[in-house]
Amino acid sequence: MPQESLEGVDVTMCGIFGYIGKRNVVKACTEGLSLLEYRGYDSAGIAGVVEGKIALRKRAGKVADLCEVLDLVHLDFAIAHTRWATHGVVNECNAHPHLDSSESFALIHNGIIENYATLKQEMQERGVSFLSETDTEVLVQLIAAEYCGDLAAAVDRVAKRLKGVFSFLVIHKDHQEIVGFANGCPLSVGVNEDEVILSSDPNTFLGQSFRVLFLDPQETVRVRRGSVEIFDPGMKQKEKRTLVMESILKPPSKGSFPHFMLKEIYEQPEACKRALEGRLGSNGVFFQNLLLSEESLRDSDVVWTVGSGTSFLAGMVGGLFLEEWASLPSLCEIASEAQYRTTFFSSKTMMVAISQSGETADTLAALRKAKCDGYKTLALCNTEHSAMAREADGVLFLKAGPEVSVCSTKAFTSQLILLALFSLHMSALRKRLGEEEILLLGKSLEQLPQMMQTVLDRVDQIAALAKKYARYDDFFFMGRRYMYPTALEAALKLKEISYVNANGYPAGELKHGPIALLDRNFPVIAFCANEKTREKMISNLMEVKARGAPLLAIAPERMKEVEKIADDILWIPDSSDPLAPFPSIVAGQLFAYEIAKARGCPIDQPRNLAKSVTVE
Ligand code: AGP
Ligand code: GLU
Repeated sequence: MPQESLEGVDVTMCGIFGYIGKRNVVKACTEGLSLLEYRGYDSAGIAGVVEGKIALRKRAGKVADLCEVLDLVHLDFAIAHTRWATHGVVNECNAHPHLDSSESFALIHNGIIENYATLKQEMQERGVSFLSETDTEVLVQLIAAEYCGDLAAAVDRVAKRLKGVFSFLVIHKDHQEIVGFANGCPLSVGVNEDEVILSSDPNTFLGQSFRVLFLDPQETVRVRRGSVEIFDPGMKQKEKRTLVMESILKPPSKGSFPHFMLKEIYEQPEACKRALEGRLGSNGVFFQNLLLSEESLRDSDVVWTVGSGTSFLAGMVGGLFLEEWASLPSLCEIASEAQYRTTFFSSKTMMVAISQSGETADTLAALRKAKCDGYKTLALCNTEHSAMAREADGVLFLKAGPEVSVCSTKAFTSQLILLALFSLHMSALRKRLGEEEILLLGKSLEQLPQMMQTVLDRVDQIAALAKKYARYDDFFFMGRRYMYPTALEAALKLKEISYVNANGYPAGELKHGPIALLDRNFPVIAFCANEKTREKMISNLMEVKARGAPLLAIAPERMKEVEKIADDILWIPDSSDPLAPFPSIVAGQLFAYEIAKARGCPIDQPRNLAKSVTVE
């Protein structure tokens, strides 16, 4: 499927890694894990075969903690894992890899075996005892029970009994091979003359070019030194298309910044320019290689945006763009809900699946369901070779460059740019706005890098305010129209990196219940940059102050009346309503970052989170 020309890849997924090759196996695995760990970092482990035995080390905590106990010098080959716990607390016992009772097999797993409890009970009735609480251990015991000398055949037989979205790698002490299976969680295989690497993310292939293939659901792979075999269910061998991929020469670095999150916040003006590059011509918006034909785009009568977390919120802003500029009805939905709807949309509906990683299981499931239901699908993602980039009918890439911090920042503003461009493109196709007006709106997007830079230059003021507000444990964020999803996103930033109870609300909704919570210990952060609702917002500020809550207004310089009401003000550059989310959210991102720093939080790897959640 032709795609728009690519750049700005990103490391995606929590996950799994396997290595057979000439390099030092332990070093290759720990390097691979370090590229994967910020996607899931509850625990880490490695298992390999040496002198006909399984050697295994694992530990709760980060890859660095594992390396402290990694006294393995030589392994013939190995599998390695970073965990984002779904079944079983975070401890060493539940860390991967998991062994069978005879310690002949070792297995690592990404995703969920939904019917593990039934299978576990069956194994227990057959006398198998379990050490961990994980669904993963059931898998390795099942394979051991099915094994009759052929590891891949045992995997094939067990796979037929499994329900869920997952991928796994398994090894046996008597076989110089790694066998893998994928069903919905990505598993890629990279081959060159020196090595074969298996990974949940092709961007962990370091150092030289590889031929890369991607397992489709229900496929089994067997990797031996210098050979890769792929099987359909029933062990029917098959050929797979491979593509040549230049790997990343070195992992992303923080440079002079203390955290990836701050680096990526400051990259936004540049990321915005990259998102616009080559897409704004003298006669409007131009998308290269967008598979969806112009007539099928023009034909769309509803745009259904789906995403998770920040990407869902970008879709909310995109829905307002589409309505305002293209007169297109839009439905913006959380991906984990979208897949369960009984939809009665017309066949002219288009789903826009938004995902920085391109691998989020909830969003991928919604995309797959939409395709099954016959809708056109467009993916907006930041990651080349991701599942969504491969499976959607059309793809638009953010070109934001690797976003390493779990807390998404530049991906959000780049998603908004793409959605703005897409809305102008749809407007032109549907002949809603005139050519002149579309050109003017396109030109206005070119002011965004400077608008965001102006806010970045006010970081000292933002940091001072953050120190003042860092002592609170509860916050309301509020806004109207474009400022409502902006408030939700700013609240999510603060919540996920500071662990405080921060929630966003439509400003008009506060008085319908939530305002009961307000008192002098419950500050409100008000996003005011919406001209259409200016007077109403002023009333909302007054309502907040009447309850004695501390009030910080993030307001455009034109709104001088705010000075009489708010306790504190963060001024942002004036802009049109549709463009106001860009400077506003940069203020929100810095505010959250500075509060998290003041509260001594880790920031780039917040507890319990993962960069791309590959379980539903
Ligand atoms: C955002 O800061 C969070 N890390 C999270 O909500 C994230 O946006 C969500 O998991 C979706 O990820 P995706 O864009 O890769 O699909
Ligand atoms: N469900 C498995 C567990 O909880 C795997 C989770 C993951 O994807 O890391 O250990």
